[in-house]
Amino acid sequence: MYDGDIASVLITEQQIGEKVAELAKQVADDYPENGTDLVLVGVLKGAVMFMTDFARALPVPVQLEFMAVSSYGSATSSSGVVRILKDLDRDIAGRDVVIVEDIIDSGLTLSWLLKNLASRNPKSLEVVTLLRKPDAVKVDVPVKYVGFEIPNEFVVGYGLDFAERYRDLPYIGTLDPKVYTS
Ligand code: PRP
Ligand code: MN
Ligand code: MG
Repeated sequence: MYDGDIASVLITEQQIGEKVAELAKQVADDYPENGTDLVLVGVLKGAVMFMTDFARALPVPVQLEFMAVSSYGSATSSSGVVRILKDLDRDIAGRDVVIVEDIIDSGLTLSWLLKNLASRNPKSLEVVTLLRKPDAVKVDVPVKYVGFEIPNEFVVGYGLDFAERYRDLPYIGTLDPKVYTS
């Protein structure tokens, strides 16, 4: 599949599975059942694989919400211009909310999202991301749960795309530069 486009496997399917379980344990420890379900806000489309695996790995009840936001274009780095393609279906006022992201790269998407969701007065607001790149530290966004710190390479798979392709790979790999330089 995608023959020759993937230069290397950065994180295997098994490593992802182990990390998802680890993150789920951390989050479950921090949010014991209290009669009001935790709200997971998955950021479409990239977070969809992580969101579904993470929700199933969590031993506490959660409700699933999705937001679709996108930076413009299909370039390999984000522009910082964020638009809402789909908003939450429910009010999150007074709720414990955890944003679920696949990757924090420049941090601009998340920085915008945190401000936007905080303005809706949740009881608490935290972030879990499977991947984080080094540039993310430049934007000061508080992220409580991070799966893997990865180098500044273009990665795809497990939800992450290049021009909408490769999301369906079960692992995370680096994209051969020939794919985006040709
Ligand atoms: C990607 C990724 C994160 C964001 C991270 O989403 O899924 O949401 O970029 O980049 P940043 O930290 O530099 O803002 P994208 O906008 O490509 O949309 P997608 O999830 O639909 O692929
Ligand atoms: Mn995304
Ligand atoms: Mg994308």
